[in-house]
Amino acid sequence: MQFSERISRMSVSSTAAVLQKAAKLKAGGARLVDFGAGEPDFPTPEHIKAAGVRALQENFTRYTPTGGIRELKEALVARHAQDFGSRYAVEECLVTVGGKQAIFEAIAATINDGDEVILPVPYWVSFLDIIHYAGGKAVRLETRESDGFAVRAEDVEKLVTPRTRLLIVNSPSNPTGAVAPPAEMEKLLGLAQRHNFLLLSDECYCHFVYDEVKPYSLGASGEREHLLIVGSFSKTYAMTGWRVGFALGSPELLGNMLKLQSHSTSNPTSFAQKAAVKAVCGPQDSVREMRDEYHRRRDRIVPGLRAIPGIRCTMPQGAFYVYPNVAAYLKNGGLADTTALAERMLEEAHVALVPGAAFGTNEHVRISYATSMEQIEEGIRRMAEFFARL
Ligand SMILES: Cc1ncc(COP(=O)(O)O)c(C=O)c1O
Repeated sequence: MQFSERISRMSVSSTAAVLQKAAKLKAGGARLVDFGAGEPDFPTPEHIKAAGVRALQENFTRYTPTGGIRELKEALVARHAQDFGSRYAVEECLVTVGGKQAIFEAIAATINDGDEVILPVPYWVSFLDIIHYAGGKAVRLETRESDGFAVRAEDVEKLVTPRTRLLIVNSPSNPTGAVAPPAEMEKLLGLAQRHNFLLLSDECYCHFVYDEVKPYSLGASGEREHLLIVGSFSKTYAMTGWRVGFALGSPELLGNMLKLQSHSTSNPTSFAQKAAVKAVCGPQDSVREMRDEYHRRRDRIVPGLRAIPGIRCTMPQGAFYVYPNVAAYLKNGGLADTTALAERMLEEAHVALVPGAAFGTNEHVRISYATSMEQIEEGIRRMAEFFARL
């Protein structure tokens, strides 16, 4: 059997290998500390689940409009307006099967063979594979750990060429937790307008920001042609399995994205959309509670990691990841790379984390603190012991 050249440009997520091994160990009865998963450990809030159940009981089980039910689009743009001061019309909103589908469709709808996409490194791995699948060329924007992995407009501008079609910004970032301040985001949008490319702003983690950082969306800028906002219910409302996300942008771009959706998945699941309506219209206390809990965990795990000799760790301002630098142990511990380190950590300490290779860097590992404080305490203890032995 011969497979397409296009599919050969994609690889199975490099996060998967370690996580698969972790799952195997778990199934075999090992008491694992799992820092691998990129999803909330909280259940979906009760009132949202109840809305999904009610929709099922009321037989809301048929196809819906491909781009989502109007009720959800209205609720989404109203929520976004209330939270961020944006003014999107219902026609400027597309409901998708998770934020990931919106990202896939946006890249597929804008990129021709050889077009350039500026991608800040470290990146969320799916961005890279989708760019490759679409025939695009990923142009790496190397951020600096010493600068908190900040994406700076002046660095982006140096990479712009006549073939630049897209810049992808994910703030707060998976995997670093770095947050781009509003002034920098506005500069990035200015570049997109001046050089006529699209800024894809992935705001999946926008509600989880800490200290004095406030939730922010570039959507308030009023820009349409050069800006696409992607959001998700997965993290904000602990709804990863429901698969609901959205995009806000120009009707022209959304219309092209919708073509792909209509010939692939069709509508996002009908009753999940009803649950999503409840999520955005109902009380937002659960979002604040989860944010406060992530904040407490961040404030425990970062000092815990920094207390391990040789480990450097930036202070993330958002999302639920830390991205410590473990280079000292690669050289001295005789490990080839962070993948080898993650494998040994898993085997010897039963701690699962994701090697930085998955996100385009060589000296880091990603630790998700979307897990209980007890697991964080135990994980820090095991990691400290493991590194001390190396
Ligand atoms: C940066 C980023 N964007 C988008 C997504 C997509 O999330 P979903 O498709 O569940 O909405 C994720 C999920 O991990 C993510 O980390």
